[in-house]
Amino acid sequence: MSRTPLVAGNWKMHGSTEMTAGLVAEIAAGAANLAGVEVLVCPPYPYLAQAVSLAGSVSVGAQDVCDQAGQGAYTGEVNGAMLKDIGCTHAIIGHSERRQFYGDSNELVAAKFIATQAAGLVPVLCIGEMLEERESGNTENVLAAQLDAVVQAAGIEAFADAVVAYEPVWAIGTGKTASPEQAQEVHAFIRGRLADKDATIAARLRILYGGSVKPGNASELFGCPDVDGGLIGGASLKSEDFLAICQAGAGA
Ligand code: PGA
Repeated sequence: MSRTPLVAGNWKMHGSTEMTAGLVAEIAAGAANLAGVEVLVCPPYPYLAQAVSLAGSVSVGAQDVCDQAGQGAYTGEVNGAMLKDIGCTHAIIGHSERRQFYGDSNELVAAKFIATQAAGLVPVLCIGEMLEERESGNTENVLAAQLDAVVQAAGIEAFADAVVAYEPVWAIGTGKTASPEQAQEVHAFIRGRLADKDATIAARLRILYGGSVKPGNASELFGCPDVDGGLIGGASLKSEDFLAICQAGAGA
């Protein structure tokens, strides 16, 4: 089963109109020369429309979305329809920073996943274990709970049009990367768990790795059979680094 790799940049809370103009233009120009990889950038909300206007063949996604699909009295929130309206194609859901600092529970993440798809956007569902969970041997239990909450709420069919990102929390922004063996083991577990419900959907699903991916380690990570690209934080803020990682995706 061949899956086109996806390399997604998660800018987190970084940016300005000036930075967006430069970074998106450089990424769009570089990505235009790459075949065999899809490229996605996810700037903060205020810069999404600007990014869409400059992105060329690069897709633009949000870093979060409201769990409510319709408009209404939800001060401070942005729904999927609004993101779709301005040209976004994806939304990151359940990033560990949302789970840790903003109370995104497995149930809320599942509701956001459903709302994202209802708006016609592709959810990039993030799951990942904390260091103490890994050290106590609970990695698979944690990932299963995070995944199952969405499968139960949305149905396995929903994964036909979704992306999963495995991001071990201990590797995010720390400079510590999962080894290719560790990443492959977990990616195979995720795919296997979904394959128990639907083997075809699981075989087609793209599972990204995220956590301190850099130009120097991207190729070996993306070379793992069940790693289908990456979700890139820090290194997505420098066009040269991000494009080198996209290039590694194209070569995977
Ligand atoms: P990092 O972040 O690449 O800076 O580790 C990844 C992420 O949080 O998506």
